[in-house]
Amino acid sequence: MPLLEVNDVVVRFGGVTAVNQARFTADERRITGLIGPNGAGKTTCFNVITGLQRPTSGSVRFGGRDVTRTAVHRRARRGMARTFQRLEAFGSLTVRDNVRVALDIAGGFGGLMRSSSARVDEALDRVGISEYAAERADSIPTGTARLLELARCLVGDPKLLLLDEPSSGLDESETDAFGELLIALASEGKAILMVEHDMDLVMTVCDDIHVLDFGEIICSGSPAEVRADARVQAAYLGASDTDETQHDLAPLDATTTIPAVTS
Ligand SMILES: Nc1ncnc2c1ncn2[C@@H]1O[C@H](COP(=O)(O)OP(=O)(O)OP(=O)(O)O)[C@@H](O)[C@H]1O
Ligand SMILES: [Mg+2]
Repeated sequence: MPLLEVNDVVVRFGGVTAVNQARFTADERRITGLIGPNGAGKTTCFNVITGLQRPTSGSVRFGGRDVTRTAVHRRARRGMARTFQRLEAFGSLTVRDNVRVALDIAGGFGGLMRSSSARVDEALDRVGISEYAAERADSIPTGTARLLELARCLVGDPKLLLLDEPSSGLDESETDAFGELLIALASEGKAILMVEHDMDLVMTVCDDIHVLDFGEIICSGSPAEVRADARVQAAYLGASDTDETQHDLAPLDATTTIPAVTS
């Protein structure tokens, strides 16, 4: 049984159906991509999985248990950790203290007592930002702040990492290094579910990809299968015609294409 199961989830906001019968899984040792045009419902799916959004219908199972009605912090304690599309670090705290706070939260009541500097330093080292440990979080470059978000997730040793556009703000070499880090984390046993607009990164690191369009999963498969799918190409081309500027990294543009597979 997969670590995470999203079963027929529907989310309606008034007249808007943000997620429509979405069904997908994520599992240990795998990097699963959740992709789709702007407004497709990706972040809403993350909110349902982590407990910030109650679904209109459908369920979420994690580690074999139904967590659809489980509180956010309880899901976190069971091993879910997420990053946010908009950076959420505490700007006036140092990088190290941001990670320390995350560990205290992950550790639960009494967490302060059990905070371990070694674990904090290990998390900073793991993502490669030890040199920024004493800097204020609002003074570091965006790329470093993305890595800080990841360190905040990792310090609680979660089973599932949910990453919402983790490469936005990273330059090309930072993105490459980030991809290698994700692959290493998956090989150590983490389940990674990633929303990402950088198609090169998605196609390089993901084992499985689910494509959302107008709230529906229109395709699930390997990178090669997704790349070759006519509905996926139509969804992305449609989106890039009408919806160009919501992201620094557009889903598809002149430099990032999902090439048609010819047989
Ligand atoms: N709290 C809310 N209230 C009303 N509508 C919402 C709310 N949150 C999201 N929506 C709508 O639901 C749809 C899906 O939004 P969502 O943020 O999940 O998309 P997304 O795939 O993450 O997009 P992006 O790539 O731009 O981040 C959009 O039409 C959005 O406007
Ligand atoms: Mg989003």
